[in-house]
Amino acid sequence: MSAGRGLWITLEGGDGSGKTTQAGLLEEWLRAQGRTTLRTREPGGSEVGVLIRDIVLHHRGDIAPRAEALLYAADRAHHVATVVRPALERDEVVIQDRYLDSSVAYQGAGRVLDADEVRGLSLWAAEGALPDLTVLLDLDPATARRRLDSADKPFDRLEAEREEFHQRVRESFLALAAAEPERFLVLDAAQDPAVIAEAVQARVAALL
Ligand code: TMP
Repeated sequence: MSAGRGLWITLEGGDGSGKTTQAGLLEEWLRAQGRTTLRTREPGGSEVGVLIRDIVLHHRGDIAPRAEALLYAADRAHHVATVVRPALERDEVVIQDRYLDSSVAYQGAGRVLDADEVRGLSLWAAEGALPDLTVLLDLDPATARRRLDSADKPFDRLEAEREEFHQRVRESFLALAAAEPERFLVLDAAQDPAVIAEAVQARVAALL
């Protein structure tokens, strides 16, 4: 169930799985098809979200797991209401880096909160809105870590977590995809970016 008349595509996967690259390639392709697109992300896809993003990714010191889950949910509530729904109502294609599946994977499996409660919280925040398509870029955490290392940027609070955390996140994403095969497209993120982009385009073409 999407939130309006446009098309809503989310990209999910671990840190370093190539979501931003694929979002860019998909946007280019959609624009070439004559579609109006909106690139956005969570956390941080609205003005309020930028403030929340700074807290969840860069606060020095602990944030209690439930507080972290609520901060992501607050970002989501404001983002869906003020950015995503209006764009879908304008018949745009929304290409979004991360959505509620990230909360289930990171706060649920990663921080070991109850996955159904975390999902329920996000659905409440977003008034039940779910994307038309979720592309999961699946990559083993060791390869992802090597990519992040070579990017030479300081790690944020979540990226800095240990490999076991990221392994749980990966398994949770795969379980979510298996539970909702009609919403998810799972792709091996170790492939050439152009090959991944073609697979995404083929699936999106069927939805346009
Ligand atoms: P990114 O925008 O660079 O992917 O960083 C966002 C980080 O926040 C990433 O490590 C995943 C994490 N995250 C969660 O833990 N829960 C969420 O609900 C979302 C959207 C992101």
